Amino acid sequence: MAEQGAGEGREDRAEGRGRVFSGMQPSGEAHIGNYLGALRQWVELQERYECFFCIVDEHAITGEFTPAELPERVFDLAVSFLAVGLDPERSTIFVQSDVAEHVRLAWIFNSVTPVGDLERMTQYKDKSSRRESVPAGLLNYPILQAADILLYRAGHVPVGEDQIQHLELAREIARRWNGRFGDLFPEPEAILSPAGRILGLDGAAKMSKSMGNTVGILDEPEAIQARVRTAVTDPQRIRRDDPGRPEVCNVFTLHQHFTPAEQIPDIAAQCRGGTRGCVECKQILAEHIGDHFAEARARASELKAHPDRVLAVLDAGAERARREARKTMDAVREQMGMVWRKRLQPTGDLR
Ligand code: TRP
Repeated sequence: MAEQGAGEGREDRAEGRGRVFSGMQPSGEAHIGNYLGALRQWVELQERYECFFCIVDEHAITGEFTPAELPERVFDLAVSFLAVGLDPERSTIFVQSDVAEHVRLAWIFNSVTPVGDLERMTQYKDKSSRRESVPAGLLNYPILQAADILLYRAGHVPVGEDQIQHLELAREIARRWNGRFGDLFPEPEAILSPAGRILGLDGAAKMSKSMGNTVGILDEPEAIQARVRTAVTDPQRIRRDDPGRPEVCNVFTLHQHFTPAEQIPDIAAQCRGGTRGCVECKQILAEHIGDHFAEARARASELKAHPDRVLAVLDAGAERARREARKTMDAVREQMGMVWRKRLQPTGDLR
């Protein structure tokens, strides 16, 4: 009996698990901000949810990008996904532009989304203010994001704080579409990253490739040392034996993520007492970052030596994603009356 119970439990989970969708722009190999803010949590979510993880190249083209570099960036991000433990046996890992339904659903959502809602988005205001000519794609970016999520009728979306507003809009779009055409889309809920906002090595801006303030998760230990050496610490600490303030130091924050918990009190105490200099403190951090990703580096070099394996994962992922996406699009067209063949062939194949 006990064994049967356990078996049923497994079945339940396979059938009744909630669905998760999340996306990341193809900016090449992941950095520790991507890892702490998203990937680490994605790996855990695989245990409890049916997950779709997407490399969003159609979002990437709304910003600055170089066509010649895009394939490499997609590939490198896919390698990072697999290296940290996203598991293609359990999760659907794919590239957005391989599944045409994302753009098709986005177009449909264009017709139920007020321009005013898009113009209110903080990210849009920020990004458009820095450009002379603003592509419509930058304004419509959150519509594509809503389509990503709702195409799979995902109920849960792991995101950082900066994406909460976009997710709120996705909920609004789901409500509006459902209200007009009938219940189809669940309103997706955010799963907020527990790490909060991860600052770059400058200790000021959010960690991002374009700011050049990152540490790559697949960097070799020497490269990690070289990068972390540039990190900004407590600005009030000028001489080595000045007392430091770990609570305002971004290097200390990173220690809390990568250094074994039992060593954290010592890191803080030596900083406060001015008994360990920032240079050494950063060396210790770099070592722990290197150790943390040792296994990921090994997996990544294996994958880079066998790119066909990465291709196979993304191909299978796209196929699985397309199957789900088509189901949703069939229902969307049906409920919106985009089924003109029905008028002429009432019993025939509607596609
Ligand atoms: N806009 C997200 C970001 O910049 C990326 C993204 C695209 C996304 N589509 C998504 C995130 C769907 C979650 C769900 O981080």
